[in-house]
Amino acid sequence: MADCMQEWPEPIVRVQAVAESGLAAIPGCYVKPPRDRPAQQHLAAGGDNVLREPSDDSIPVIDLGELLAAGEGRIDGLITEAVAAACRDWGFFQVVNHGVAPELMRAVREAWRGFFRLPISAKQQYANQPRTYEGYGSRVGVQKGGPLDWGDYYFLHLAPEAAKSPDKYWPTNPAICKEVSEEYGREVTRLCEVLMKVLSASLGLEEARFQEAFGGAECGACLRANYYPRCPQPDLTLGLSAHSDPGVLTVLLADEHVRGLQVRRADGEWVTVQPVRDDAFIVNVGDQIQILSNSVYTSVEHRVIVNAKEERISLALFYNPKGDVPIAPAPELVTPDRPPLYPPMTFDEYRVYIRKNGPRGKAQLEGFKGQAVPGTGNK
Ligand code: OGA
Ligand code: NI
Repeated sequence: MADCMQEWPEPIVRVQAVAESGLAAIPGCYVKPPRDRPAQQHLAAGGDNVLREPSDDSIPVIDLGELLAAGEGRIDGLITEAVAAACRDWGFFQVVNHGVAPELMRAVREAWRGFFRLPISAKQQYANQPRTYEGYGSRVGVQKGGPLDWGDYYFLHLAPEAAKSPDKYWPTNPAICKEVSEEYGREVTRLCEVLMKVLSASLGLEEARFQEAFGGAECGACLRANYYPRCPQPDLTLGLSAHSDPGVLTVLLADEHVRGLQVRRADGEWVTVQPVRDDAFIVNVGDQIQILSNSVYTSVEHRVIVNAKEERISLALFYNPKGDVPIAPAPELVTPDRPPLYPPMTFDEYRVYIRKNGPRGKAQLEGFKGQAVPGTGNK
């Protein structure tokens, strides 16, 4: 990666430290321009800065129980139609009866909660660098003076085996953190493999088509544990700015008590997601599915709002293509009316842009649209 990615441009300040310092007003670097702030209707009357998030139960819920019980060989039309509608209408869906044990979900969430609740001094040894991102972080973009979000995180590579984060990057406290995260990673990766078949079938493609296009058994998985401390002025900032996820699929285990994830609905409104159950996953399609599907499915923008009363934790498992496989629109989905919208690009190349610039809504992918697409004369 480029030299500018070797070091952070300014000293890293933990959001947890800012939150615990007891400031009544948040530092300017966290203040978003008015158009990016949580909408006024999300704020409670009386100005007490408690976000009143309108819950929304219309994020579709997909029940995988029957499919998993019948063996994955039997993906029926009901499921593929439900998934197709969810991807077209929202880019997001929840899954229940997904085969990942609720006890494992609880254990991994508690392990990371335990880590983030440690004093900052106990976590600094894992401070991350822009070059690999692995470890304890508090910013994404490397631009000096760039806007910052109200959240700390921990980032790890889980798969493929060759890319897995070495031991030095894994917290040793809580002691079970590594083991439980690895097991969780394996289970959720298996779920992603099932979802890939369903997504392929939902576009009328062979079930194995997506998996093959993204690198077969060598697809990647990364874990990002997010920690959003309490915030004295939640109306001015965001826990995570609007972005789409760069990879293939994201499986989010949200906080069981505190909401915060917002999804941009087709009409442009931000809607707060309410998980249907504590053991539901929130799944969204990433930029690579938008590219492979030639924009039949699009990766939808989402963001995180924070809150004055309660901290929030979430675990995002990113299922990514193998790094060196060029991803381009599937020829089956390219027609004279729908020429290829994106040039081939490997995920390793794509990820460099994201990491340099930090969360930027959908600007990234839009920027690549129409660039040097082979065979269209649009060079
Ligand atoms: C992410 C993300 C949402 C959340 O980590 O990419 O969108 O609720 N997280 O923390
Ligand atoms: Ni995201």
